[in-house]
This record gives sequence, C-alpha cells and structure tokens, in this order.
Amino acid sequence: MKYFKETIKYRWNRLTAMPGDNHLEPPPWLYARLARGSLMRQIYRRFIADLAGSLAPGTRFLDVGAGPGYLLGYLARDRPDLSLWGLDFSLDMIRRVRPGQKEVAPQAAPRWLVADACHLPFPAGVFGQVVATFSFHIWPCPVAGLQELRRVLAPGGRAWVYELRRQATLRDLRAFARELGLPLPFVYLGYQVVRWHHALPESEFTDLLRQAAGVRGTLQPAHHIFWRAELQGV
Ligand SMILES: C[S@@+](CC[C@H](N)C(=O)[O-])C[C@H]1O[C@@H](n2cnc3c(N)ncnc32)[C@H](O)[C@@H]1O
Repeated sequence: MKYFKETIKYRWNRLTAMPGDNHLEPPPWLYARLARGSLMRQIYRRFIADLAGSLAPGTRFLDVGAGPGYLLGYLARDRPDLSLWGLDFSLDMIRRVRPGQKEVAPQAAPRWLVADACHLPFPAGVFGQVVATFSFHIWPCPVAGLQELRRVLAPGGRAWVYELRRQATLRDLRAFARELGLPLPFVYLGYQVVRWHHALPESEFTDLLRQAAGVRGTLQPAHHIFWRAELQGV
C-alpha cells in the first residue's frame, strides 16, 4: 500500500512539475481554477473577515505562498487603503493572477514577487500583517519559514498561518458544511481526499511553532476545519 501511494505521488509530482517531492499538489492551472470557485471564495472571505477589521489604514500586508492571488484580490477591493504584497516561488502561479484582480485601483493593486518563503527578500520589521494560507505545509523549511515570517514583522505586527486541520471531527465538518450551505457528503468526501497530504496534525504544528517562535506562537482552530497559527512581531 505504501509503495502504491509513493508511486502515485512520484508520478503526480513528475506530471505536474511542482517543486518538492513529498506533496500531491495540484498543478498551477488546476489550482487556479479551484481557487476561483465559490467554495474557495467563501473560505478567503472568512479569512478576510478575521483579518480586515483589525488592520489599521495603510498597514503593510504580505501574503506568502499567495498562489493565484485571490485572497489579495478580494482584500484589495475591500481595503484599498492597505499596502498589499504577494509572493510565491512559482512564477506559473503568479502568472495566473487574473486580470480582474490586477484591475483594482492602481494604488490598491498588490505588488507581486517570485520568492521563497525560506528566504524572504525583505528587511526585518516592515510588515504589520503577514498571512500564509494553505502553503506552509509545502515549505521545505517549516521552522526557518516561520522565523522568516516573524523577522519581517514590524513591532506589534502579527503573522497568521492558515492550514487544514488533520483531526477535524464529523461534528466540525457538519458545522463547516452548514455555515457554507454545502451538502455534508460533499464536504466529508472532499475533506477525506485532501487531508492526508494537505492537513497538519496539531502535535506537528505545535512543535514547529515552538521551535520557531517559542512562547510567541499560538495555534487555534478556525472556522471548524482549519488551524490558524499566530506569530507575533518581536
Ligand atoms: C495550495 S497553494 C495555496 C495558494 C494560496 N495561498 C491560496 O490560499 O489559494 C500553495 C502555494 O504555495 C506556494 N509555495 C510552496 N512552497 C513555497 C515556498 N517555499 N515559498 C513560496 N511559495 C511557496 C506554491 O507555489 C503554491 O502557489
């Protein structure tokens, strides 16, 4: 069974040419399609609702592993006063930032970079808010990556890392399905398909946070089936 799983993983990664050898990641063209669907839109909208109310005007905001950029696109429309930056190490993903997202008011448009979460190309202490959604589990350098998020935070700034929870219960899935108005079987099956390769167990996440940030990192469930890790600026 293990051999079978490893073989499928290997073939898929060769087929999709995604960096890294340990993850079944969809290729950029497929991910970009999924990300613009209504399910992902509802999820990004919830993350934005968590964030936006507490961001002061003009806050510098960085999305690490931003993929095709939908979260930043929605945020640019809601909060044109923020200074938005997005980066991803896949140029192919960034190329898929849709024209609609680029056409927000010029001063609100996110700035895009190809860069690695393991070595952020910014000086220390420049962002009031950093996020990473569904990207951290892929980073080859989880501890160094979290330390990088902290390094670029301004004093009083915070970084939020959203990931899927590995141990969401049926009750969690039901609550999530109800909240988004989705059929439970759809949510249940979708969750089972993605969780083994895209969801972090609490113990692993907590351990990485402790290594990276000590007492300045916390982990809590968000929206029933996600984790939100928080790191605070020094
Ligand atoms: C599943 S997608 C999530 C994209 C986006 N954050 C979202 O929520 O739709 C994961 C993204 O992380 C990016 N990524 C993975 N490892 C990275 C790294 N070390 N540095 C920067 N980006 C990375 C991938 O290229 C991909 O675009």
